[in-house]
Amino acid sequence: MSAPICRDLKCFGDISAREQHMKHGVIGKLLGVAVEDKSVISLGPGEPDFSTPQPILNYGARLLASGRSTHYSPPSGRKELKEAIIQKLRRDNKIRARPENIIVTSGSQEALMMSLITTMDPHENIILPSPSYMGYEPAVEFLSGRVRQIPLRQENNFDLDVDLIKRAVNSKTRGIIFCNPSNPTGMIYPKKTLERLADVAVDKGLFIYSDEAYEKIVYDKKPCSFGSLNGMKDYSITLQSFSKSYAMCGFRLGYAVAPKRIAEAMSHVHVNTTISAPTISQMMGTYALKTSESHTFRMVREYDRRRRMIVKRLNGMGLKTLMPQGAFYAFSNISHLTKDSNKFAEQLLKKAKVAVIPGAEFGKYGEGFLRLSYATDYRKIETAMNKIERFVK
Ligand SMILES: Cc1ncc(COP(=O)(O)O)c(C=O)c1O
Repeated sequence: MSAPICRDLKCFGDISAREQHMKHGVIGKLLGVAVEDKSVISLGPGEPDFSTPQPILNYGARLLASGRSTHYSPPSGRKELKEAIIQKLRRDNKIRARPENIIVTSGSQEALMMSLITTMDPHENIILPSPSYMGYEPAVEFLSGRVRQIPLRQENNFDLDVDLIKRAVNSKTRGIIFCNPSNPTGMIYPKKTLERLADVAVDKGLFIYSDEAYEKIVYDKKPCSFGSLNGMKDYSITLQSFSKSYAMCGFRLGYAVAPKRIAEAMSHVHVNTTISAPTISQMMGTYALKTSESHTFRMVREYDRRRRMIVKRLNGMGLKTLMPQGAFYAFSNISHLTKDSNKFAEQLLKKAKVAVIPGAEFGKYGEGFLRLSYATDYRKIETAMNKIERFVK
C-alpha cells in the first residue's frame, strides 16, 4: 500500500506522507484558546455537556469493584451486548440483524474506520455531502482514498441532491457517507430522499455508510434508518454510537451493522487494530440499552429549549439559520458578511470572546457558515448571543 502513496505525495522528514497531507483544520487551535482563556464562551464542542446518567455510572462502579471487566472481549463484541443491540435495532431502527452482522467498536468513529478499511481500496473514492462531519474526509484519506464532495444547499434544507450524487459516481466510487441527523446542518433526511438514494445504491453497486450517531437527539420527527429500507441490508453499513444518546463519549463505544461477509472481515481487521472495544464500556453499554430512556429524553428536552432560543437569536441578528431537526448544532449563514469563515471565527474569538466552528471545516461547501453548538449551558448561550450580536452589528 505504501508504494502508490509515496509516488503520489511528497513527504519531508520522518513523518509519513499520509499524515503530512492530512488536512489540519483550525478547530484544534480555536478550541485550545477557548479552554485556556476562561473568559471565552465556547460554542464549539461536539459532545453533550451532560455527564453519563448516574445509574449507568453506578453500574460501572460496581463492575470495577467486582474486577469482572478487566479482560479483553471478543473482537466483534460481547454476546450480551450484541443481543441488546439486536433488540434495539429491531425496536428503534426497524433493522433485523443477527450477531454476525454486528461489530462493536471504540466509538462510531472507529466503526467508520473499520468499515472503510474493509470495503475501500487505495485510490477508490467516497462521495461526501458537503458540509458534513469533519471526521469523514481524514478517515478516507488516511486510507489513500479520495473524496468527492457534493454540495448541500441551505435553500434546499440541506437535503441530499440524489441526481448530483448519481452524476458524481464513477468506476472507482465505493459509496457515500452521510450522517442522519446531520452534523453540522441539524437536518434529518426525508425518507423519500433515502429511497431515491437506495435506487442509486442498487443501480451503481454502492455502499451507503449511514452514520446515525445522533439518532436519539431529535426533536419533532424521527430519522429513517437507511438499513431499514427495502432491500438495503446488503448495501448499508449502519454506524451507531453511545456517545450522544447516553452521554458516554469518554467510554468510547459504538458499533457497525453490516452484511455478514463485511462484518466478519471487519472483525479480522479489529484483531489487528484495537483487538476489542473496552470491556467495561461494553458492559455498561449493555446496561444502558436495557435501562429507561428517561435520561436521554431529559437531555433532549433541555437541548430543545436551547435550540429554540439560539435559532431565534441568530435569525434575529440576520444570520439565516434553519431550525435543527436533530443533533445539537445551529448552522448559520454568514455569507453576506464574509467569504472567509475561518477568519470570521478567529475575529469572533479575539474580539467577542466566543468560540464557534467555521463552516469551511466541514468541507468546501460549508464556507459561508458557522456551526454553533448548543451543548452548553442555556445562560452561557444567551450571553454568547449578546456578544455575537454586538460583533456583527
Ligand atoms: C456525525 C458524527 N459521527 C461520529 C462521531 C464520533 O462519535 P463517537 O464518539 O461514537 O466516535 C461524531 C462526534 O462528534 C459525530 O458528530
